[in-house]
Amino acid sequence: MAEANEVKRQGAYDVYDYVFSLEEQLAGLQTERQMASARLTQLQLDLERTRKELNELKLPPLMVGTVSEVLPENNAIVKHSNGMEFLVKGVVGIEGELEAGKRVAMNQRSLTITKVLPDNKDWRVNAMEIIEKPKVTFSQIGGLEDEIRELEEAVILPLTQPESFEKLGIEPPNGVLLHGAPGTGKTLLAKAVANRTNSTFISLSGSELVRKYIGEGAKLVRDLFQLAAEKKPAIIFIDEIDSVGTHRFATANGDREVQRTMMQLLSEMDGFHEVKGVKVIAATNRLDMLDPALLRPGRFDRVIEVRLPAKEARGKIFAIHTSKMALEGDVALSELSQLAEGFSGADIKNTCMEAGIFALRKGKQSIGLAEFNEAILKVKRQPAALNDDSRARDRMLA
Ligand SMILES: Nc1ncnc2c1ncn2[C@@H]1O[C@H](COP(=O)(O)OP(=O)(O)O)[C@@H](O)[C@H]1O
Ligand SMILES: [Mg+2]
Repeated sequence: MAEANEVKRQGAYDVYDYVFSLEEQLAGLQTERQMASARLTQLQLDLERTRKELNELKLPPLMVGTVSEVLPENNAIVKHSNGMEFLVKGVVGIEGELEAGKRVAMNQRSLTITKVLPDNKDWRVNAMEIIEKPKVTFSQIGGLEDEIRELEEAVILPLTQPESFEKLGIEPPNGVLLHGAPGTGKTLLAKAVANRTNSTFISLSGSELVRKYIGEGAKLVRDLFQLAAEKKPAIIFIDEIDSVGTHRFATANGDREVQRTMMQLLSEMDGFHEVKGVKVIAATNRLDMLDPALLRPGRFDRVIEVRLPAKEARGKIFAIHTSKMALEGDVALSELSQLAEGFSGADIKNTCMEAGIFALRKGKQSIGLAEFNEAILKVKRQPAALNDDSRARDRMLA
């Protein structure tokens, strides 16, 4: 009898243990499920964003024109900036908005008016980014010491001490071209120059010019230089200048519009030696593709290569981007910079952000070496072209 009871009790303990271990397993699985679901949400967001980007890339660019006359039944005569006039129809619902003098966007194939653009000035200003005085300073740039020194001589001194150049009787370079891989800090440098010289930063992206503002490129370029003269001291920054100044475009007969934009740019560069207090900085990832006409004396006659950071510079860039992060003791910047071989400044910035996100997902209050390792692997796996507009453009043109 006693024996039987003993067996029963033993069995109860076993079941108890078993239930306990099941509960433990369950808790573990629940945590895993939570993590997986967080990951799923993140991936869905990524997917959504990539889809959107893809759709935008697939969209053909719209052509811009000015309405010269409104006709009955939603028709209008529209003048393209090349001087040609077209009789076109508007999409349903646009009737009330059509007015002579209004700027409209048209589908390139059918020339149907798809939307009426806001008034002249606004939308052209929209095409440019204007910052009264950028906040970026040279202290927020890691490495690039040689590049900064060259900018000092070519842009900063001519703006801050024009007399010393005059006294010596030397002409500072008219325009400076920064070239280097994407994410190496070209835009950052241009902004820091504007900050140092208390200049207004006016920027225009060559790829947007070609993609979004067909028919308006030349006018935009003219406005850009005019605006700079009004706002001086000013730095004009033309990003992805290869989009307007590629020799491939110059030979393809289809792209007269891009050529016209380029001619306008050349003539502005040639005509603006006398304007004191304005400097032009252009940037490209594709020096090899650039039309040599842009590099002639008096134009972009100072070419500065912006290189990928070496190990020591990578350490400095890590220091800049982790300065506000709660790091754990095991994070050694020199080790990180060793692991981040071949990374650009932008890659390093991404790494720091990703490490933060990994820590967040784990519910941690600080960021350790493990998270940085994961982040470095993730950034390494990302194709370098992800943020590179010029390659996306090539794909679109192909
Ligand atoms: N040398 C650097 N030091 C610090 N941050 C950098 C550096 N280079 C790039 N970055 C980071 O990467 C981002 C993108 O750089 P950006 O200047 O736009 O590169 P580019 O114009 O050459 O493509 C910057 O906003 C900055 O946060
Ligand atoms: Mg840039």
